[in-house]
Amino acid sequence: MIGFNEGMKIRDASPADHPFVMEIYHDEVLNGVGTFDLEPLSDEKQRAWLAPHTASRYPLTVAEEGGRIAGWGSLKPWSDRRAYARSAEISVYVHRDCRGRGVARSLLMDLLERAREGGIVVLIARIAAENKASRALFGRAGFQSIGMMRRVGEKFGRVLDVELLDLHLDS
Ligand SMILES: CC(C)(COP(=O)(O)OP(=O)(O)OC[C@H]1O[C@@H](n2cnc3c(N)ncnc32)[C@H](O)[C@@H]1OP(=O)(O)O)[C@@H](O)C(=O)NCCC(=O)NCCS
Repeated sequence: MIGFNEGMKIRDASPADHPFVMEIYHDEVLNGVGTFDLEPLSDEKQRAWLAPHTASRYPLTVAEEGGRIAGWGSLKPWSDRRAYARSAEISVYVHRDCRGRGVARSLLMDLLERAREGGIVVLIARIAAENKASRALFGRAGFQSIGMMRRVGEKFGRVLDVELLDLHLDS
């Protein structure tokens, strides 16, 4: 458990946090391009979404501020094929009302440490090309572009490119 900003605590999500995690995610489903889901997840899909986080190597973390969940971060297996076990996908989401004051940076820095502890070597982020805030967040943390998947998504009537970025924790 690591706190970076005064008054903010980064910790593992508990089951009581899951509805708040989902609320933040579903806001982005409906209003943003941070995820390519198009509709809120059913209860069954939420259970499947949470399933990888039962392993400590793949944490789901939250930023708690004044008793409220300001954002969450996660590490997930990049693939269920075991040769990919050294790699994980990283995601960070912050409540719309809590953006622009370092919540994402704190969640991200904590996840980098958690990944190292879990023996993960390569972190991968998938970011819609128009998602400038996310691109800047990961860029400033040292993630580098490894390619653009062109025109792979469509949301809000717009065809979207997706950039892949990676960070090698052993270099
Ligand atoms: C991207 C997101 C997580 C940033 O959260 P945040 O708490 O506002 O970010 P922070 O305040 O910690 O800012 C960290 C860095 O991100 C970048 N950043 C954040 N918001 C930005 C914006 N609106 N425009 C440009 N850069 C931005 C900056 O580089 C910033 O560092 P700096 O202030 O030192 O320059 C948030 O906008 C979000 O939840 N978006 C929807 C979900 C999403 O797209 N997640 C990423 C995909 S996994």
